[in-house]
Amino acid sequence: MAKTLHGLEGVLANELKAIGAENVEEQRRMVNFTGTTEMLYRANFQVRTATRILLPIHTFKAKDEEELYSIAKKFDWTSIMDLSHKFAVDATVNSSIFTHSHFMALKLKDAIVDHFRDRFGKRPFVDPKNPHIQIHIHIAEQDCTILLDSSGESLHKRGYRLHQDVAPLNEVLAAGLIMLSGWDGTTPFIDPLCGSGTLLIEAALIAKGMAPGIFRKQFAFENWLDFEKETFEKVFNDESYERDIDPIIIGGDISRRAVDFAQSNLKEAGIQKLISIEKQSIFDFFPPEGQGTVITNPPYGERLKKDQITTFYKQLGDTFKQRYQGYSVWVLSGNGEALKNFGLHASNPTTLFNGPIECKYQCYNIYSGSKKAKYQNK
Ligand SMILES: C[S@@+](CC[C@H](N)C(=O)[O-])C[C@H]1O[C@@H](n2cnc3c(N)ncnc32)[C@H](O)[C@@H]1O
Repeated sequence: MAKTLHGLEGVLANELKAIGAENVEEQRRMVNFTGTTEMLYRANFQVRTATRILLPIHTFKAKDEEELYSIAKKFDWTSIMDLSHKFAVDATVNSSIFTHSHFMALKLKDAIVDHFRDRFGKRPFVDPKNPHIQIHIHIAEQDCTILLDSSGESLHKRGYRLHQDVAPLNEVLAAGLIMLSGWDGTTPFIDPLCGSGTLLIEAALIAKGMAPGIFRKQFAFENWLDFEKETFEKVFNDESYERDIDPIIIGGDISRRAVDFAQSNLKEAGIQKLISIEKQSIFDFFPPEGQGTVITNPPYGERLKKDQITTFYKQLGDTFKQRYQGYSVWVLSGNGEALKNFGLHASNPTTLFNGPIECKYQCYNIYSGSKKAKYQNK
């Protein structure tokens, strides 16, 4: 089970199919699939739009807490962990019988501890912050599924972001935005309001076919008893997905601090040669002529007065109209009202969430040629 963010289920399903996953099935904020151990490692290492990959290990029905406890206690937990492993349990409950997720997590924790105590007279310890083994239980009515978290820290934590300025995009969301746009690395990619550079870095990784996992220090599956080191090394060293391509990727931001942060993040990712970033206002920047893609998330205006943000979005729309002919301009904004001032007709609107903020993600195709005839003015 690969978890993802709202709106990225389709992209994730395609990514999983591309690495050979079978029985790929989209659900709400997750995609189920089947595959080998190698596939599990590959999904963690290579897939850009999953936040974590969970492996179901036991499914059963339970009519009450006692039955859940006794079935879970009978499961052979020594196949999963030993007494030296610290573990943690959490629960997701959607049931009229079981109502408290925290209580169900405690029940499962007791079942695991008692299983070991009965067999060895000793118990493994719990470490909710830094567990070797993270266990989830999902309960839907009477259907219980116990799953192992193979990822550990959420996969959006790639490991290249040393610094972040205000309101950085989640890396999984940034990769999803690029994949939804269909940009393939062959035309310029621009984020003229790039902040700490998340979209630029994810664009470079996508264009070059570089796995997002190369920066991670650890995946939870490396702690598992059945960890196959050689299989993971095979996945880690597989360069067959990499592409020999020199994409044009350009960023800019008006804030010196943001540009400095973005540059140190690029350095950390080792891709500083692939991306150029300048400290400049979007209003002073001219993109390369011809076709290209802009993906950006401008300020939503929480710290600005309403007329200031209205004017800012109007100026942004005018700038795209005048300078970006031939470009597809994709904008993610949590300020739907302000977006109306763009003065451009949007296509492909999608609802996504940037953290808790509901956002619109939509594309403006800026046609070249006669301004009057082809600007899709409202
Ligand atoms: C929401 S943040 C972008 C965050 C970025 N996507 C990231 O992942 O870090 C918006 C950015 O727009 C920048 N900005 C605001 N006005 C600008 C302007 N006129 N020209 C260029 N950048 C501007 C801000 O400095 C801020 O970094």
